[in-house]
Amino acid sequence: MKETKIKKKQKLYEGKAKIVFETDNEDLYLQEFKDDATAFNGKKKAKIKSKGAINNQVSAHLFSYLESYHVPTHFVSQFSDTSMVIKKLEMIPVEVVMRNIATGSLVKRYGVEEGMELEHPIMEFYLKDDDKNDPLINEDHVLSFGHATEEEVEVMKRYTQKINAVLKSFFYRRQLMLVDFKVEFGRAKSGKLKLGDEISPDTCRFWDIESGDKLDKDRFRQDLGKVEEAYQEVLTRVFK
Ligand code: TMP
Repeated sequence: MKETKIKKKQKLYEGKAKIVFETDNEDLYLQEFKDDATAFNGKKKAKIKSKGAINNQVSAHLFSYLESYHVPTHFVSQFSDTSMVIKKLEMIPVEVVMRNIATGSLVKRYGVEEGMELEHPIMEFYLKDDDKNDPLINEDHVLSFGHATEEEVEVMKRYTQKINAVLKSFFYRRQLMLVDFKVEFGRAKSGKLKLGDEISPDTCRFWDIESGDKLDKDRFRQDLGKVEEAYQEVLTRVFK
């Protein structure tokens, strides 16, 4: 574990699955992953044993891997089992979703066939706004509402496409189909965009290539059982 000498200070923000703390370094935050799980905009709640530690380790590994492909991220180093040191970012309140296979809200919204391979992967933008249920938006909303510049939108799209290409083959080699995922970006001190938040079984869908089994948060969302086992299995395969 690469050590970054920082001291944890006061809590800055607590979300549904993570807590962000200030540190004694003004450029760095501490991001702590909780075992708490929510779905359907917080209406369904539970704890998933070891989820915090698993999502921290999976995210740390995937961020480092993406950096090696020149996708800049906020990741600095692991701090504890359940926390990582991250660079301070000014977050863009937009969730970028990339889909390789039709499922979830895509099937609900458009009535396309569940499990259909999307020959042309679909990128979507959602506004991060719990009160409005994270509505689907497009590039014009992002620009018009002043959430990002044209150049930033282009960079977010390019990085998301690259993340998809890199992670699709990373997981394919581990017998997992990267069905879809969600990412968030923010501006670093330099003004440059970096990937923030997390990449984990909370924010991706993984289907076992052989059995088709779901190995992600859908096990919790859909009450499929063996939730902890699924998260553990993803961790094992990521580190294979
Ligand atoms: P969706 O099919 O429910 O729109 O989800 C698309 C992807 O985004 C899926 O991989 C799960 C992820 N996701 C999140 O990370 N956070 C969320 O709040 C939602 C709704 C989805």
